[in-house]
Amino acid sequence: MNNFIFENATKVYFGKGCVKEYLSCLSSRYGENVMLAYGGGSIQKNGVYDEVMESLNRAGKNVIEFPGIGSNPTYAKVLEGAKLARENKVDFILAVGGGSVMDCCKAISMAAVYDGDVWTNFWARPGVIDFEPLPLGVIVTVAGTGSEMNGGAVITNEELKVKTGRDYPKCNAKFALMDPSYTFTVPRFQMVSGGFDILSHIMETYFSEPDEANVSDDMSETLMRGVIRDLRAAIRNPEDYTARSNLMWESTMAENRIIKLGKRMDFQCHQMEHQLGAYTNCNHGAGLAVIHPAYYRHIVKDAKEKFTRFAKTVFGVDTAEAGIEALAAFIRECGLPTKMSDLRSRVKITPEVLRNVADTCNVVKSGPRELSRDEIYDILMECM
Ligand code: NZQ
Ligand code: ZN
Repeated sequence: MNNFIFENATKVYFGKGCVKEYLSCLSSRYGENVMLAYGGGSIQKNGVYDEVMESLNRAGKNVIEFPGIGSNPTYAKVLEGAKLARENKVDFILAVGGGSVMDCCKAISMAAVYDGDVWTNFWARPGVIDFEPLPLGVIVTVAGTGSEMNGGAVITNEELKVKTGRDYPKCNAKFALMDPSYTFTVPRFQMVSGGFDILSHIMETYFSEPDEANVSDDMSETLMRGVIRDLRAAIRNPEDYTARSNLMWESTMAENRIIKLGKRMDFQCHQMEHQLGAYTNCNHGAGLAVIHPAYYRHIVKDAKEKFTRFAKTVFGVDTAEAGIEALAAFIRECGLPTKMSDLRSRVKITPEVLRNVADTCNVVKSGPRELSRDEIYDILMECM
């Protein structure tokens, strides 16, 4: 294995009823003013909002609401939240939602206390956080990104048409409350897209170097089989608590750094999808589902042994190529999009859009092989 240092500052409270049981006590550790951040209103429809407010009221908090954080959060929304936090002298941010709400709040926790421009100094390029961001707590309502237990925040700068993720340990939430029953109301499309995002995180880690026997790859194989099993079960019965709790924890395990220890990160498919998202605002997991098989068909010859191991251990088929086709079949089985025209997009996805995506996405040097921009364009065009 490669050398590593491991730390994870987020304390996890997992299970049915955890918000009622712990939120009031946890929030009493911070000052009076709490910014309650959420998305487009699902928490008001499914009762999560009432449960959260009840706990915050019990703790005597002054609640400042910051609703309307949309999918693929924008830098403009980060600045709006930071302004609200400053004006109201917010002591603590509570993010209730999925990756978009959690990521936006991580960036707000920095922008609310930092005098410079956080995009320029921390997203346009990696920076060093030598200050304390506002403390953040998260309540997860959908499984997928794993943002609850890392410092990652993926932000879209709409003006520049760039979507970039950074992982700053200082942005780890202080605590994460994870009640799997909160995910029962996630619409099927979002559930399978989040499920595929989990699988993608594990695959992108697994196919990164090194390939010699290592604990991380062994754990990844178990997790990949688990995601496939649990997603199938949750599709059959959306209120299957076992399936939902497994998916929720698999999502966290994929992104809480544990399976990445000793590995060099690749995430080339994510780099392509993020830029596709910057141009089209497409759903993250759905974009990944479209690109993954085409990308893997391109690089299979460069990592034949690893793809064969993946085929055998994850899908129970014999050859590298059969493993990729089994992955493509699983994507179809879940009802996920399989081509660009299936994606819900802000603009029509044309060859010109894909050329822009190929010319602006990050190219990662540590994958089985570094791709050229023309090859990235070819991969994206094969998804048309
Ligand atoms: O906005 P509301 O009304 O709450 O509805 C949301 C939203 O429409 C809905 N939803 C969430 N919980 C629900 C629910 N609907 C009913 N019942 C519930 N319990 O789900 C929709 C999608 O939410 P969103 O937060 O956008 O999804 P996701 O968790 O997939 O997050 C996507 C964002 O995270 C980034 C993605 O790029 C994208 O911007 N990522 C973040 C990562 C990280 N921080 O580590 C890693 C990932 O690779 C990813 O890039
Ligand atoms: Zn992802």
